[in-house]
Amino acid sequence: MTAVQSNQATFREPQGETARTRTSNAMPTSGPYHGGMEPANDARRDYRRLVANGYDVCAPAYNAARSLEPPAELRPLMRRLPDGAQVLDLGCGAGVPITRALAARFAVTGVDVSAGQLALARDQVPGATFLQCDMMACDFAAGSFDAVVSFYAIFHLPREEHERLFRKIHGWLRRGGYLLATLAMTDEAAYTEEFFDVEMYWSNYGIDEYRAMLERTGFDVLESGVLHHGYDDEGAKAEQHPIVLARRQD
Ligand SMILES: C[S@@+](CC[C@H](N)C(=O)[O-])C[C@H]1O[C@@H](n2cnc3c(N)ncnc32)[C@H](O)[C@@H]1O
Repeated sequence: MTAVQSNQATFREPQGETARTRTSNAMPTSGPYHGGMEPANDARRDYRRLVANGYDVCAPAYNAARSLEPPAELRPLMRRLPDGAQVLDLGCGAGVPITRALAARFAVTGVDVSAGQLALARDQVPGATFLQCDMMACDFAAGSFDAVVSFYAIFHLPREEHERLFRKIHGWLRRGGYLLATLAMTDEAAYTEEFFDVEMYWSNYGIDEYRAMLERTGFDVLESGVLHHGYDDEGAKAEQHPIVLARRQD
């Protein structure tokens, strides 16, 4: 992955072995993943419903495992925003730690497809507004937000939709607004895997394609780095999630 592109080198870069999202031969021996990756190519299956229902079931376990502290990579965005800024959190989950950290200073709208996750989020982050909808189906007026964040969520959408999502986000942002999102390191066609004891679905391109896609959809990448998966287990280091801070051009 290329180095941080701004002079504020605040994001961590990949270290050690070759960066990857996850591979079946890198299967952690403990942690939330079990059963191996299976191709998600059955046209008769509703993988969107699988994701929503899956998070309804695993929300308490995911929430219990999730780190309580927001990652340092949130700070470069927060530094750039004035108090009271309008921020959209796509796939906000149970709201901790990301939505909660943002809501301490900003007016945050959290969107999630899972009612189970949102019930926890409303309880844990009473100061934010929450909407239950699929991020591809919800809509906001043009220029509604100063920033959009999305942590560990975009890869639950079929990857053919990711460019369209970036275009929607571009429209929801005011000019010069920011996108902070975790993406994926390597190209992985749609697959399912057991995650916190439910079957879950992922689909993603590799980081080079995402960089090109962000440029095509009208974003400049300001900073980039790598996060692990955001909770503590022995397999944590096996996952590397690129994170980019991008700004809407024009
Ligand atoms: C791995 S969790 C991450 C939650 C939170 N962002 C965090 O950092 O803890 C992924 C979240 O994305 C949500 N999600 C998945 N697909 C979605 C979609 N199409 N629209 C809205 N939310 C979605 C899931 O319900 C889940 O809460």
